[in-house]
Amino acid sequence: MAEDPRNPLRRALPGGIVPEDEVVRTERRWFIIMFGMLAVMMAIIVVTSITHALHPPSNVEPIDPVTLQLNGEFAESNLGTALEPDGSATARLIAQQYSFVPNCVTLPAGTPVNFRLTSPDVIHGFILVDTNVNTMVVPGFVSEVRTSFSTPGDYRMPCDEFCGLGHQGMWARVTVVPKDQFPKLTRVERTSCAPQ
Ligand code: CUA
Repeated sequence: MAEDPRNPLRRALPGGIVPEDEVVRTERRWFIIMFGMLAVMMAIIVVTSITHALHPPSNVEPIDPVTLQLNGEFAESNLGTALEPDGSATARLIAQQYSFVPNCVTLPAGTPVNFRLTSPDVIHGFILVDTNVNTMVVPGFVSEVRTSFSTPGDYRMPCDEFCGLGHQGMWARVTVVPKDQFPKLTRVERTSCAPQ
């Protein structure tokens, strides 16, 4: 603190006491700096979530993890990609220790896609590299992510939530094909990326 003999508030006080106005000024300065940092962080969150279309899971849809493979939506015959009457596609997968079932799904490009995943055992991660798709798959709930792929190609889909000893080997693949090519594929071809 600069000493100023003309200003009684800036005179050095005994015993290291700091004048009150100096304390107020310093507190105000740090408050402005902290508020500015908070504003920058909030702006980064808002801007990136808008530009990358990120959003937290918006639906809470419970499902019985014990019976999900036996009947209903996640029975084996319903897994993979299905075309809906409105032209969109739904991809259903089960994430389990230590694989995705099916381990490859084929999807049409330029089409609204609805991913629906659930887990019978522990929490897994569902991320599609180079896309806005990134969510957790929690046992007892259905995770739903909507997206669309503008260009055909392969997307890696590793489990990104530590789920046990085999975690690093748990991954799947999404193959996006041109929109007009998709309806010609058979059911098996839609749920498998192995050459037929
Ligand atoms: Cu499943 Cu990590």
